[in-house]
Amino acid sequence: MSRTLIVSDVDGTLLGDDAALVAFAGWFNQARDRVAIAYASGRSFDSVSASIANSQLPDPVAIIGNVGTQMQRYPGGEPIPDWPRAEPPTWSSGGVLETLLPLPRLEKQPEEFQSAFKVSFFLHDATAEELDEIRGALAAAGLFADLVYSSKRDLDILPRGANKGSAAAHLAQSLNVAPDNVIVCGDSGNDAAMFAHGFRGVIVANALPELKSLRSERAYLAEQTHAAGVLEGLKYWSV
Ligand code: GLC
Ligand code: MG
Repeated sequence: MSRTLIVSDVDGTLLGDDAALVAFAGWFNQARDRVAIAYASGRSFDSVSASIANSQLPDPVAIIGNVGTQMQRYPGGEPIPDWPRAEPPTWSSGGVLETLLPLPRLEKQPEEFQSAFKVSFFLHDATAEELDEIRGALAAAGLFADLVYSSKRDLDILPRGANKGSAAAHLAQSLNVAPDNVIVCGDSGNDAAMFAHGFRGVIVANALPELKSLRSERAYLAEQTHAAGVLEGLKYWSV
């Protein structure tokens, strides 16, 4: 049987219900010969590694961090080659900051959440028009950037084409796992891109409307929340 790769978000998806995570970890332990797991988070490799050390999260093969703009093997942290594909002059974190800092409603997230390939702001209750204006400002500055908006609060500016979905696809390819054998799991807006690559997926019951509104036969909407919802979805997909 070919190996299944689970690519799961962490906060609000696997984390959030400790008892459910214990049950998930127990299931994973008996399935580990045929299943590998990777985490895809908005947080960094170091931050997710700390969560693994402090919780029942099973050891992953790799961590996709910073909303898809960082990809390292676990536990050693060796970077997975050729990622992200972003080079100046089309992408420049300094250019993004220079362009967006003057916008009054944007509040830069703390420095620990910024990186060379991810510039993040808080922007509460953004409207579609507001996001369009930001896109327009970046384009006018000659920057090839994508916006990812989550939880009616977090605005991530990423190099064009880099997101959790393209990162999951790159990881699967580098591990020689066919797309049919990839299952993605999430709960919020920054997970949506993972559902756009033909993978099977699981949306946990506590997911935000921004993700639940995704209608796809390949996205199973679980009745249970957090890790229990992930496990329910994996069973639905006969993993
Ligand atoms: C995580 C990151 C934050 C980002 C958010 C949404 O919370 O720390 O920087 O904005 O995910 O992607
Ligand atoms: Mg989440």
